[in-house]
Amino acid sequence: MRAGPVGIFDSGLGGLSVLQALRAELPQQDFIYIADSGHAPYGERDADHVIARSRALTAHLLGQGVQALVIACNTATAAAIDVLRAAHPGLPIIGVEPALKPAAALSRTGRIGVMATRGTLASARFRALLASLASQAEFVLQPCDGLADAIERAAGGPPNAPELIAECARHTRAMGQFGLKSGQIDTLVLGCTHYPFASEALRTLLGTELHFLDTGAPVARHTRLRLPALASADGSAGPGQLKLFSTGQPLALQSAVQHWLALHSPAARLDC
Ligand code: DGL
Repeated sequence: MRAGPVGIFDSGLGGLSVLQALRAELPQQDFIYIADSGHAPYGERDADHVIARSRALTAHLLGQGVQALVIACNTATAAAIDVLRAAHPGLPIIGVEPALKPAAALSRTGRIGVMATRGTLASARFRALLASLASQAEFVLQPCDGLADAIERAAGGPPNAPELIAECARHTRAMGQFGLKSGQIDTLVLGCTHYPFASEALRTLLGTELHFLDTGAPVARHTRLRLPALASADGSAGPGQLKLFSTGQPLALQSAVQHWLALHSPAARLDC
């Protein structure tokens, strides 16, 4: 018998970077992905909006029989994971947060750039993480208003599209000097699940020798550990199924999945 699907949501297409890592880690697992594009972006809205949306999407996914939930969004994790865990104590809920700790361990210059949404950077959860590492490195925080939107608009196009490069440049310029010399930022934390889809544009701007850190793979490993039955699944189950839903434009989700994940999966409209 197949275990239930794992539910995943994000404000839009960004959580596909986490879905990609989850499918690689758990190839036999069924997933249901919701892009909440009709209510995005989350990062520039207040926490109450993000909490209300997270509650509604979680309730919908529970109705679909999910056995676990991955919040594939840093902003929603920061605003809503505690509320969701309190409301659903029996449900394994896995969140994502900017990879500050691995960045502190990797950086040689001790100067680390953190790109994230305004909502994530302002959250109590992020502030506590930052405070716990303040003695280990210097973190240059950049609220990237507009970048998740620009990535959504560029989805399906070339990864080095001029508009995407321009939007990335606007934010990286504000952060100061990047490089391997003392005083320069040598490590960049991609603290929003959309940003891995801009990593080629960022490398074009900043060079290839910097460390870029996102959380897709560690979150996928952590999810596998939270689902012990799957970790020991035998090879007879066949590849996992994927169901895609969008509260905005299902076709945009479908074509992003085709382009970024090389998967042909229909997406349906969800009103919730
Ligand atoms: N992908 C989301 C995150 O990881 C947020 C994008 C948005 O602002 O909606 O923070």
